[in-house]
Amino acid sequence: MGSSRTRDMVNRLPGPTLLGHRRYIKGLLGKPYDALVELHRVHGPVCKFGVGGQQYVLMFGAEANELLLTDSPRNPKFLSRDVLTLLIPVVGANAMVVSDGEDHRRRRALVRPAFTRKRIEGYVPAMVDEVHRMISGWHAGDAVDAFADVRSCIRRIAIHSLFGDRLKAHTDDIGRELQTALNYINRSPFLRFDYDLPGTAYRRAMAARERVDRYVRTEIAKRRAEPNDQGDVLDALLESYFEGDHLADLEVRDQVISLIASGYDSSSSAAGWAVYALLKHPEVLHRIREEVEQVAGEEVLTAELIRGMRYTDWTVSEILRLYTPGVLTGRTAVEDFEFAGHLIPAGAKVLYSQYVTHRMPELWPDPLEFRPERWDEEAPDHHNPVPYSFVPFGGGYRKCIGYAFAELELKVLIAELARRIDFELTTDVVSPTGVATMWPDGGVPVAVREVRPRAGVHG
Ligand code: HEM
Repeated sequence: MGSSRTRDMVNRLPGPTLLGHRRYIKGLLGKPYDALVELHRVHGPVCKFGVGGQQYVLMFGAEANELLLTDSPRNPKFLSRDVLTLLIPVVGANAMVVSDGEDHRRRRALVRPAFTRKRIEGYVPAMVDEVHRMISGWHAGDAVDAFADVRSCIRRIAIHSLFGDRLKAHTDDIGRELQTALNYINRSPFLRFDYDLPGTAYRRAMAARERVDRYVRTEIAKRRAEPNDQGDVLDALLESYFEGDHLADLEVRDQVISLIASGYDSSSSAAGWAVYALLKHPEVLHRIREEVEQVAGEEVLTAELIRGMRYTDWTVSEILRLYTPGVLTGRTAVEDFEFAGHLIPAGAKVLYSQYVTHRMPELWPDPLEFRPERWDEEAPDHHNPVPYSFVPFGGGYRKCIGYAFAELELKVLIAELARRIDFELTTDVVSPTGVATMWPDGGVPVAVREVRPRAGVHG
């Protein structure tokens, strides 16, 4: 953390003493969940946390989220790059997620056309195909790790929709390489050693990223040589113009890799939790199955049919609330500011927490209960969520650009699983792990009982 003024002022905030961090050892080592809830309970809406050069200011609750997320893009009081440099080994130095100010505005504007509703809905057939491809590997009597399988399915969806058919053959290689790099950024910041020395995890992560780079660079060169819009994200990026400008190849490369990495890491965690939540709550799975039968019958799923599935929609929101893949998101304060009676200095690394906000009893009645019905606006006891109390994708001008894509693929996944598979969990509890993304530790082991034929495909 920046200057000694910043350090001194952060040190004056409430929070554990140096020795007091002992009780949060799991939090420091990569399982921050209980530590975050406890820090909020003990210290209230603002506290300091961390040791050495890695000291953070945690800000909890809907007001904290609102303050950080309703920032102005033209005159920002909070920046992302500094606190997110941890992501650069995977996403690259030119990725939108680690850009600020004019660079961010430009890159975001250039990437936006790849995520219009029409483009996203155009990816539904790829989503449906990949889910069936995964299911085709399952048979009655099989024991499978559903997380590993949905993870590779979501990865294939990301690569398929980003690159179209051409890179599909390399999906597993790209996925494996990116996984090495993602495992590195999912480490606790307190366990990082970002030096390129032989035998280090950092060097392995950088080498893996370099191999992914090569695939993407080759594909960009091919498409520049023979432009032909196949309707995928890479074409949209290559064609995108904003205020007379377009993305340079290096920027395209970093957007593509960061889109695959974000598109796959958070969404596959959500997908793993989705399977877990549905099997923990068979009544929810049953209602989804009924809804899919009623809305789609024997038809192949389309964007339009999915729009008609309200219960499935609520279930996805409930998964993103209780098993929110992003645990914490950070910014660096540009100037001193006040929050909840505390002065937080310029240069401080401030974090908001989706995990804590989504579990606050003052915001969510019975927060630990998995209840899709709480999203039913017509229910007599329905309360509209307080603004900024539901922030799985952040909000404001840096809201996740892939949120509609992620929600759609989750709906396709759970609708198809509900109509085709009978399965059950073979473990009682799965606990979370990971810092940049929260995923099911040890996977989601299931026993497949029955696999029904694919709807809409005859012969
Ligand atoms: C369930 C799945 C997902 C979750 C929970 C998620 C969550 C988030 C969160 C919390 C942020 C940060 C917001 C902030 O800085 O305050 C973010 C940013 C971002 N996400 Fe996602 N995301 C998901 C899926 C995706 C997908 C599918 C893509 C792309 C295909 C994507 C691309 C991005 C990008 C590029 C940013 C940076 C936006 C910017 O800085 O302007 N994400 N996401």
